[in-house]
Amino acid sequence: MPLPAAIAADRDWWRHAVVYQIYPRSFADSNGDGVGDINGIRSRLPYLASLGVDAIWINPWYPSPMEDAGYDVSDYRAIEPVFGTMADAEALVAEAHDAGIRVILDIVPNHTSDQHRWFRAALAAGPGSPERDRYIFREGRGPHGDEPPNDWRSEFGGPAWTRVTEADGRPGQWYLRLFAPGQPDVNWNHPDVRAEFAETLRFWFDRGIDGFRIDVAHGLVKDADLRDIAGLPFPLPDDTPDGVEHPHWDQPGVHEIFREWRAIADSYAEPKAFCGEIWVGRAHRLTAYLRPDELHTAFNFNFLTCPWLAGPLREVITSTLDAHASVGAPPTWVLGNHDVCRPASRYARPQEQIDPGFPNLQHYLGLPSDLAVGRRRARAAALLSLALPGGAYIYEGEEFGLPEVEDIPMEARQDPTVAGTGGAEIGRDGCRVPVPWTTGGDSFGFSPDGAAAPWLPQPSDWGTYSAQAAEADPDSSLALYRRALALRSRIPALGDGTLAWVDAGPDAVAFTRDPGFGCWVNLGAEPLPLPAGARVLLASDDLADGAVPTDTAVWVELA
Ligand code: GLC
Repeated sequence: MPLPAAIAADRDWWRHAVVYQIYPRSFADSNGDGVGDINGIRSRLPYLASLGVDAIWINPWYPSPMEDAGYDVSDYRAIEPVFGTMADAEALVAEAHDAGIRVILDIVPNHTSDQHRWFRAALAAGPGSPERDRYIFREGRGPHGDEPPNDWRSEFGGPAWTRVTEADGRPGQWYLRLFAPGQPDVNWNHPDVRAEFAETLRFWFDRGIDGFRIDVAHGLVKDADLRDIAGLPFPLPDDTPDGVEHPHWDQPGVHEIFREWRAIADSYAEPKAFCGEIWVGRAHRLTAYLRPDELHTAFNFNFLTCPWLAGPLREVITSTLDAHASVGAPPTWVLGNHDVCRPASRYARPQEQIDPGFPNLQHYLGLPSDLAVGRRRARAAALLSLALPGGAYIYEGEEFGLPEVEDIPMEARQDPTVAGTGGAEIGRDGCRVPVPWTTGGDSFGFSPDGAAAPWLPQPSDWGTYSAQAAEADPDSSLALYRRALALRSRIPALGDGTLAWVDAGPDAVAFTRDPGFGCWVNLGAEPLPLPAGARVLLASDDLADGAVPTDTAVWVELA
């Protein structure tokens, strides 16, 4: 089924799209095995249409041993049986399009699974073989080669290298894996790797997919000599001299790959788009990926990691807008995803005490938490992000104000970070707990009643956050998101474009957008007056005598 004509005609959809992220394991389980699936997503399409999103991004749905929840792909052109079949996937794409919703897949080009046919062939073929050259195999250091080839560390803890046992039974070469042992990094200097991923893009584009989110896009190219990191921090600080590069993140050679990918996307009559997962810190290094012949968009993690404080927010918004304007690309505004602590729980912490760093739950554990405050701020943050120029992302459950689940028992946790750090880190499961759809039932409507238990345990009060509870409450976060998205689609000032800052005091984030739109956010303790003549369109919480209370955002129409 094609997209409705008016939506299909919007060739610049990616410049303003609101994209809803579906983590398929946790969204909706249709067959009762306790794991979400494609037919579960299909059953929720009417819900997504009623929410008013423009597109869905689905985390990896390919065959996988699930060492890293599907980011260890063993076949890029098929569907993981736990999630369904290719026919289910094709039906989902057709039905989503019919509902006016575009579909973005997740491509994982930095590494394959160790069960991928290439890696199995590499192990079988032995040192020095062309098969090993598709990955990054090296001899170890030390007299017996029993130390890793360099000092690189895995993102999940420990060295970034795993030693293999060769055919003769002896310990042999080491292979690079920046993530879990079952995720060997591929060698992007190899023509087979380039050809294979180009073909995979075409395979899915030919099936009507509208775009790709690119996993670890800044990681594909490694330093030619695999130099030691030798203490170099990453992200590199702002004052890093030109020419100083990290040996495996954001290497300059990566851009050439995305130029090739852009040409593939542009070869289609329909407008296909990419969004890069690019953690690089400095805004100009991010937007280097968004030059006109590279990626269309990238996640704005500087916004996601910014504390709920007016000064830092104004700064990050300004630097985002300036850097994106310099390459003519639209920003995205992102509050959460399947890797980071949910915004309601992040904003529940004292914001002045938050250290920079990867914003997973581990980061916030020692800090006191006031969830009522966090949820209030998350509502305001949602209105802020939907009012800023460009596109926005909503991670499943954010529209219910779902908190992070902080007390999952260690033995129930599944993130490979837990094993990789010997239990020192609790990992990312707390934002992946299956979504509650109903106030009651065995799994709050995630699976049919009587099904296997959900793959991660849900808290006993999970139903209070459910879609069903929200539907019954006109002031729910869900109702707020629905109103915001409906307004966004008809207010010409919103979406792509620019903003003008308004000085409304040190604790405010306030701006206008032409024609006639304003967004006022109060992060201070005192009520914030609205400008004379402003007509309130939407507020994240009740106003107090016409002024904006603490931790509240308001959309206004200006005369
Ligand atoms: C990205 C994904 C994350 C995954 C990692 C390795 O950061 O978002 O979930 O673990 O890549 O593929």
